[in-house]
Amino acid sequence: MIHINRNDPCPCGSGLKYKKCCMNKMTSYSERQLSEQYFRKYRIKLKTPEDIVGIKEAGKLVVDTLKLCEASIKPGMTTDEINTLVHEYTISHGAVPAPLNYHGFPKSVCTSVNDVICHGIPCDRKLVEGDIVNVDVTSILHGYHADANMTFFVGECSDDAKKIVNVARESLKRALTVVKPGNRIGDIGYTIQEYAEGQGCSVVRDYIGHGIGRGFHEAPEVPHYGRKNTGIELVPGMVFTIEPMINLGEPYSRVLSDNWTAVTTDGSLSAQFEQTILVTDTGYEVLTPYDL
Ligand code: MF3
Ligand code: CO
Ligand code: CO
Repeated sequence: MIHINRNDPCPCGSGLKYKKCCMNKMTSYSERQLSEQYFRKYRIKLKTPEDIVGIKEAGKLVVDTLKLCEASIKPGMTTDEINTLVHEYTISHGAVPAPLNYHGFPKSVCTSVNDVICHGIPCDRKLVEGDIVNVDVTSILHGYHADANMTFFVGECSDDAKKIVNVARESLKRALTVVKPGNRIGDIGYTIQEYAEGQGCSVVRDYIGHGIGRGFHEAPEVPHYGRKNTGIELVPGMVFTIEPMINLGEPYSRVLSDNWTAVTTDGSLSAQFEQTILVTDTGYEVLTPYDL
């Protein structure tokens, strides 16, 4: 074992002093062990401080994009117009819209109206007063992804619409409270399922949250249903989405002939909110922060 002093030349070969270079970047032996173990066992890539800065920058752009959509959505607007807004805003900020051409997805954002659970394709359909529309934005900035979505009301909406949107929002809010080291992935799904079903709604099983970083969809899988104290243990440096899709009726989904649009089988309303979350030493940090 060789000891390096603060003022020694940095062993990385930069020519800088160690203290001005890698000293503060060195991860401890135990952090490295955990990182290797999580990758070996679960294919989960724990994030470095540098990764987290990158995802957070992408996250800020995603939230700004969603706020732009929120301010623009009104009766008469088409979902294609939302797509144009998201596409141009993303590109003009030096980022790439991750959905475009992702496994063949034809547009830059997902727009899911009323009984569409997720993966709605923007088109010439005009939004009308009383619709609910989920806008799901994923941007790649400097190689890092961030993914978030919100469900918006179009003008004045029914009590059913208000109910499903509020239950979806509250499901995500409650899920965040159990994100901390030592808890498990199953605690997240349990918390959501317990609450949403308690409100007489149902949790979609066919689509789940996911790890995110340099990849759009990384390990682990994050179901929005489950049992307490089961699944992978949460550890600092994990970054994943929580994105509960909640239906007013049955939890079942079916994909339309466009091979993307997932709708409720019973035609009931569906709503969703999504955030990209970092597990910290003491709890969590939202990397796509907006008020729930
Ligand atoms: N943004 C979605 C998610 O939350 C994924 C959309 S994939 C696409 O994971 F191809 F439909 F864009
Ligand atoms: Co997602
Ligand atoms: Co998303």
